[in-house]
Amino acid sequence: MEKTKVNIIDGLSLAERHTFALAARSSHALMLEDEQQLPSISPPSDRIQGKYWLLGEGSNTLFLEDIDALIIQVLLKGKGVIKEDQDFIWLRAAAGEHWDDFVSYSLTQGGFGLENLSWIPGSVGAAPIQNIGAYGVEVEAYIEVIKCWDFFRHQWVSIAKSDCDFSYRNSNFKSCWRGRYLITEVVFKLPKVPNVNTSYPDIDRALEASLPTPEMVREAVISVRKKKLPDPKQLPNAGSFFKNPILSQSDFNRLKSKFTDMVGFKIPGDQVKVAAGWLLEYLGFKGHRDGQFGCYCKQALILVNHLDGGSVSSGQDLRVYIRTICDSVRATFGLELEVEPVMVDQQLIDRLPLNSVL
Ligand code: EPU
Repeated sequence: MEKTKVNIIDGLSLAERHTFALAARSSHALMLEDEQQLPSISPPSDRIQGKYWLLGEGSNTLFLEDIDALIIQVLLKGKGVIKEDQDFIWLRAAAGEHWDDFVSYSLTQGGFGLENLSWIPGSVGAAPIQNIGAYGVEVEAYIEVIKCWDFFRHQWVSIAKSDCDFSYRNSNFKSCWRGRYLITEVVFKLPKVPNVNTSYPDIDRALEASLPTPEMVREAVISVRKKKLPDPKQLPNAGSFFKNPILSQSDFNRLKSKFTDMVGFKIPGDQVKVAAGWLLEYLGFKGHRDGQFGCYCKQALILVNHLDGGSVSSGQDLRVYIRTICDSVRATFGLELEVEPVMVDQQLIDRLPLNSVL
């Protein structure tokens, strides 16, 4: 069988390809617009010494330094209705579709549930990786199956939701499977009868109607996000920079007795998700700035890249800033913060299972 032609670019600036906009370059890049290119680059050719890294729209990835590897940016397009019955509609979307365009499309098709996840930056293919979530909804609830190219076995696979081990901002794609599968398409199963979730106080406040439709919830979510979160085009950022720490109810009560205003949300299993944004604001990080980097003035959990800190700061400077924040949280509250976006450096790429055997 004739192999599809693959156009590998030598040397690519990554600053424009991730929303945190750190200055970095990759030695090679491939813009993946046709999934039939995948068999041709698998296993990766000698030209890139076998090393590769998969990228969507770069809204949850930070490139901390120059990378000697093939960056594969997934630009696969296409979406449609697979089937429907009385209660559900099944929609498919290629991994390179813009997430929010797909949310809008799902509502026009009469499939509900994704409205709370409106206006989240990024692509459809990235959504399952960190199990995107907002305003009381996580995407795993609506995923049925994920279609992928398997770089280990050189074949197409369909992975059922139950095998992905989804949890808060995590899945096997982000942990033990990292680098193995390139997601090409996601299939969603959406209810045709709306069941709006307005449990999140910000959304409830923004809604004027007492019986809101999913479209109204989408509008409310968009207006809340636009007010609270910086537009990466104006102020580079990667959304929430740290996960909200999860504590047992008794550990939370102990902290709360000392820090009486501390904000936490009950979650199943007698646990509490502590608002990391509150911890950072308490410690004075809201609007704080250290050279090029800082915490956003309206939401402390969002680290921002001001791009104008004098001399150009590096990924190493960012690590120092992160350490300052984590040390401060540990010293005052005894809590460990975990970085949420993926921080990419050469060491991480070299350690990927497939990269390290080639
Ligand atoms: N808060 C402060 N000061 C701050 C920020 C927050 O006191 O500077 C307190 C407030 O009490 C606020 C509470 O923290 O009510 C929660 O803040 P917010 O509603 O902004 O949500 P979050 O917990 O900081 C999480 C997600 C967001 C998601 C929102 C809404 C994580 C890591 N982040 O943020 O997701 O949009 O809830 O559901 O779970 C993302 O992952 O990139 C992201 C933006």
